[in-house]
Amino acid sequence: MRAVLAGVQGRGTVVIGEGEKDEAPMLHNGETLGDGEGPDFDIAVDPLEGTDLCADGLPGALTTIAVAEGGSLWSPGAALYMDKLVVGPQAREVIDLRESPEENLRRVAEALGRSVEEMRVVVLDKPRHESLVAELREAGAAVSTPSAGDVAGALAALLPGGGAHMLMGVGGTPEGVMTACAVAALGGGMQGRLAPQLDEEVRALEETEADTDRVLELEELVGGSASFVATGVSGGELLRRPWWSDGQWFTESIVIAPDEVRRVVEGEREHEGAQER
Ligand code: FBP
Repeated sequence: MRAVLAGVQGRGTVVIGEGEKDEAPMLHNGETLGDGEGPDFDIAVDPLEGTDLCADGLPGALTTIAVAEGGSLWSPGAALYMDKLVVGPQAREVIDLRESPEENLRRVAEALGRSVEEMRVVVLDKPRHESLVAELREAGAAVSTPSAGDVAGALAALLPGGGAHMLMGVGGTPEGVMTACAVAALGGGMQGRLAPQLDEEVRALEETEADTDRVLELEELVGGSASFVATGVSGGELLRRPWWSDGQWFTESIVIAPDEVRRVVEGEREHEGAQER
């Protein structure tokens, strides 16, 4: 990713990177990439979203990247986790994280012209979500609980025919910013709120006097034109895993740009590692 980004036109700044968090050697927050000739843009990357899924040989892992106008991406600072509520375009005006999950469910169902019993909500399968899942099921909704991957969960709620109507619950802030780019490009709705889970995260947020009650609106998470791309890594309903055919590796990606969704299949013959495995 870094080699390709180094050659693109313009000056890209990594706002959300993998470098520091995972002690990876590159794509650090603040790193600039591109040939410097052209527009400034922000970059958010998660080269492996769903690391555990991939390591366990389970479907759902993706490679993700989002780009947005320079200076327009929210930088989470010390915040690692946030509460998220994501819906498609039809329901974007009705969501409010200050209201209860049940009230949001009811409002979104109404905006979609469905009954609550016809709603499907994606919530990560985490102990912190036990009461949320119980409340949603009690209200009558179906709840999907993948063990990881709330970017894919958000896409399921955002894309027509994606199989879900809402994503709710607490996940990573980097994933939240990338999700916001896809939501903004597609005209969907999203709100977030800091939801620290780790002691050191709580301490760091207290030191910086971060407001954990304030609801972050979509426009704050991404304040300009944005695009998002995900490529399948370990397969699943959304995107195929890479496959070998006719002497090439093929990948399947979904490209979400303002008012545009495309599926792209690309083959690569020339790459050093391009041999059947
Ligand atoms: P990683 O692959 O970067 O670990 O992210 C997977 C993921 O499930 C995200 O989709 C989600 O936002 C986050 O982890 C939730 O974090 P945690 O598993 O620590 O609750």
